[in-house]
Amino acid sequence: MTQLRRFAYVITLLLAGGTLAAQPSFDQYFTAEKKFLQLPVKNGAPKRNLEIWKDGVRVRFFDMELAEGTPDWYAYLDISAWKGKSLEIRVDKLPKEAKAFRPILQSDEDVLEGTPYAEQFRGQFHFSPKRGWMNDPNGLSYYKGQYHLFYQHNPYGREWGNMTWGHAVSKDMIHWKEIGDAIHPDGYGPMFSGSAIVDSQNTSGFGKPGDPALVMFFTGATCWCQGLAWTNDGVHFNKLDRAAVPRINKDNRDPKVFWYEPGKHWVMLFWVEREGGLHTQQFLRSDNLKDWTPTSIVKGGTGNDRYLFECPDFFELPVDGNPANKKWVLSAANTMYAIGRFDGNTFTPEEERLLGQFGRDYYAAQTISNDPTGRRIEIGWWRTNTAKENMNFNQSMSIPMELKLVTTPDGIRMTRTPVKELQSLRSKTLITGVRTLTEKTVNPLKDIKEDGLEIQATLEPGKARQVTIQVNGLDLVYDVVAQQLRVDGLKATLPLQKGQLQLTIYVDRTGMEIFGNNGLVFMPVNKNLTTKELSVTAKGGKARFTQLDVYSLQTAWQ
Ligand code: FRU
Repeated sequence: MTQLRRFAYVITLLLAGGTLAAQPSFDQYFTAEKKFLQLPVKNGAPKRNLEIWKDGVRVRFFDMELAEGTPDWYAYLDISAWKGKSLEIRVDKLPKEAKAFRPILQSDEDVLEGTPYAEQFRGQFHFSPKRGWMNDPNGLSYYKGQYHLFYQHNPYGREWGNMTWGHAVSKDMIHWKEIGDAIHPDGYGPMFSGSAIVDSQNTSGFGKPGDPALVMFFTGATCWCQGLAWTNDGVHFNKLDRAAVPRINKDNRDPKVFWYEPGKHWVMLFWVEREGGLHTQQFLRSDNLKDWTPTSIVKGGTGNDRYLFECPDFFELPVDGNPANKKWVLSAANTMYAIGRFDGNTFTPEEERLLGQFGRDYYAAQTISNDPTGRRIEIGWWRTNTAKENMNFNQSMSIPMELKLVTTPDGIRMTRTPVKELQSLRSKTLITGVRTLTEKTVNPLKDIKEDGLEIQATLEPGKARQVTIQVNGLDLVYDVVAQQLRVDGLKATLPLQKGQLQLTIYVDRTGMEIFGNNGLVFMPVNKNLTTKELSVTAKGGKARFTQLDVYSLQTAWQ
């Protein structure tokens, strides 16, 4: 090292917050006495690596923005499984004067237990974790009397990292209860996205006849292999001691598994990157969920053309409700999809690159397996602007939506419509019935001041050139001449059907989800809505709402 470089190195160390000697690692033994270890977080603080060791084994490892002084919030690490045992905590680079872990705090109570999830920027009927970052939904399923929503969770910070499967359960997909993280990073790596199925015929042997296991598939993001975990009660989880599918090529991730009834075998598909950055979906089959044979590949876009990139979903739906005419749908993270045929091994697309949404930041959606009502219901990650102030959580899920295939003048298309269970959130009918609008009409919605709303509207624009519904600060404009719906810089072509436009709108604090013409257009708009005002206006002529129903929605948090 030259003198100059040595000097630059020392300066860099000093700028980084002190000399190496001032940043010793911190190790300490303690006995697990209570349910949780409390980890102090300061949003934006430098990241430290933490490890928890037990009996010479590293049982947890993660990084976090460790608070060295007053924390913004505490992350809660469940240590109840090790009660009475000696644990060791190792932290790298902690300044001597830092208060973190002096003393080590444990607690039997989660301070937020029973509090109402009522923070200013928290959606009131969109699932978000009590604490930490969340992205993709994982393992959506119905098992032993309840819906299970697992999700990509960072339990220790409100930005992406430490991917762990968080876990919430619900009787109706609307009212969720978070019940603690299900599967944690291990030697395979962080636990990336995947799916879950109920092994009704016990093909894996993980359950018992008549008492099936819920089997989950995830990606280990160090081995880039597909791992398997299962549960027999929906609360305790086991992992297979080997990869179910070893790495195939480069990045491999996000396994989706389902039962193919005609062939009586399981099918898995996941994203595999090929040479030149080609996105492909790799299909495999299995009889026992543990051993898999590759069958075929579907090619998508390349590089930034993200058709069929990440997070696939694949399912069969009747066209126009006709069970004798079914088609398969293949979609991936950005919701672009293909419609076609499937013989148990190979998917043959008939229409490709169809657009699944016209909104913003709806991603990595997944459908629920084993829905008891036989519907195909989807929930997606809705990137919301929730990392505000000293909040301790970030990101949201969409509302649950039912998927259908319908015939349109352009061909067969998939629709999304809010599930009927959402109606249980209606607390008051604020306005209902028929309304005629001219440029002089007094705003019929002027007294409505709510942050949770459902709007059901059928508009006959008649001679009007433009009709605007203003919702809590966002203008939803229907341009009658261009037959186009516009909001917040987003737009979608939405032709009138027999002179009418049907709209369903769900409004929460984090934005709104708009459904046009019974779900042919799905437009999620992520924007924190801080004003409470509603209006409808028509320009250029008389317009009529043959239906204008507005409901206030109550919180789904219990
Ligand atoms: C999509 C994704 C997945 C991956 C996960 C990691 O949002 O990138 O492909 O499994 O997130 O959190």
